[in-house]
Amino acid sequence: MLWIAGAGGVGREALDVALAAGVGVAGFLDDRLAGGEVRGLPVARPAALAPGTPYLIGIADPAVRARLAALLDAAGGVATTLVHPRAIVAPETELAPGCLVMGGAHLSSSVRIGPHGQVHYNATVGHDSRLDARVSVYPGANVSGSVHLAEDATVGSGAVVLQGRTVGRAAFVGAGAVVTRDVPPATTVVGAPARPLPPTPPTP
Ligand SMILES: CC(C)(COP(=O)(O)OP(=O)(O)OC[C@H]1O[C@@H](n2cnc3c(N)ncnc32)[C@H](O)[C@@H]1OP(=O)(O)O)[C@@H](O)C(=O)NCCC(=O)NCCS
Repeated sequence: MLWIAGAGGVGREALDVALAAGVGVAGFLDDRLAGGEVRGLPVARPAALAPGTPYLIGIADPAVRARLAALLDAAGGVATTLVHPRAIVAPETELAPGCLVMGGAHLSSSVRIGPHGQVHYNATVGHDSRLDARVSVYPGANVSGSVHLAEDATVGSGAVVLQGRTVGRAAFVGAGAVVTRDVPPATTVVGAPARPLPPTPPTP
């Protein structure tokens, strides 16, 4: 039986994927809600995971995903991938352990997705694209062919990344943006064509 780390929005969406895929879920792992119940399932502390137990992280923030993955792996947990039965995953596409693929997602030919990646509902990832560890592609985004999304990068809802572009490590592509040039690491871009979000001026 699978444990889902995170009982917030993405965690509950992961439960929906598990239910649709016929995967049994034992409960949620979430320090904030431990001892309670969510969707009729018990919530335990992540540190309580027993060795050899399958887990999936249902949390949007890649930094939190990284910390939890380290903790759960150290406890002997087994990262497990969940794919909605109404997602399309091409035969040559590879998903590393711990990935979450929601309904309506389409992963095209020869895509590689690293550990704890997330492709949300109705998002598409084009042929030969490489998504490193903990990349997130939010609902309805379109990642074209031969794109490289470096680790911890996020592509917001409805955004488009043109073919062959690289989105740097921990960069964030805002909702609805169109990425026409490579995005530097740790940069947030918005708009069409996408441009870096100006830094917030200091408060006087
Ligand atoms: C890009 C993003 C991360 C910026 O968040 P933020 O740093 O909190 O930015 P703010 O909301 O303070 O907005 C700062 C400015 O950028 C603009 N802006 C924010 N997001 C934008 C976007 N996606 N496209 C165009 N402009 C945007 C705002 O209008 C604001 O402009 P202003 O200063 O002229 O009023 C966020 O807006 C975003 O797009 N997140 C993705 C949401 C998403 O896909 N959610 C899916 C969940 S399932």
